[in-house]
Amino acid sequence: MSDLPLDVQKIGKGKYSSWQAHVLTAFPQMFPGPLGFSNVGKALEKDIWSLEAHDLRQFATTSYGSIDDTPFGGGAGMVICPHIVASCMDDLLEKSENAALPRIYVSPKGKPFTAKRAKQLAAGAGAIILCGRYEGVDQRVIDSYGFEEISIGDYVISGGELASYVLLDATVRLLPNVLGAAASLTEESFEHSLLEYPQYTRPALWQNQGQDFTVPEVLLSGHHARIAEWRLQQSEAITSQVRPDLFARYQARKHNR
Ligand code: ADE
Repeated sequence: MSDLPLDVQKIGKGKYSSWQAHVLTAFPQMFPGPLGFSNVGKALEKDIWSLEAHDLRQFATTSYGSIDDTPFGGGAGMVICPHIVASCMDDLLEKSENAALPRIYVSPKGKPFTAKRAKQLAAGAGAIILCGRYEGVDQRVIDSYGFEEISIGDYVISGGELASYVLLDATVRLLPNVLGAAASLTEESFEHSLLEYPQYTRPALWQNQGQDFTVPEVLLSGHHARIAEWRLQQSEAITSQVRPDLFARYQARKHNR
């Protein structure tokens, strides 16, 4: 899966000097998955961050190894039992340095994940992320371990593993020395409640299916102030069109400045 020689259970050199991710999952084989590629994968290899996938099934108490049961009150699907998550957490928390890490349960009923939350997480020492499957996780274990519920969007995906990729990628790329050019972080979408302007590269004239496609003149001008002005105009136009909610926030901030 990965282009890096990474181990499944303990991924990265894990010297614990780096940003530490602990993922509690019924599918530890899904890690590092996409997190083993590109800048974030290279950072894992360089020990800028470390990743441990903790197998919830290891804590099964029945002879047939189940970790879930039917929901009280009826309904479809299965719910992960509280004692399974608790045993996995207790095992993890035996190491005192893990106790202070933020605890996140990725779930569609959580608070929306934002660039701001990614920044806060990147400024800390790491995170413990619980991945649900089926209909979710027994609420009592979420409450008793103080998990913060975070959603990656208003849709339901089959399990928290994909959501944890999103959360970890968005966070780890903000760690020092993960992205090639530090400058690429400074003008990111959402930084100022604006979406990014369109980008172009060579060739300046691209021909496809008998049509000529050029690049906006201003970008070839070398005139930095005019380029910056054009980019801001583009960002504003795109944001107002596709994300009126973000644009309203941007305008409010602009007026308060
Ligand atoms: N698990 C299932 N759907 C999810 C979502 N939208 N966000 C986070 N975790 C999820």
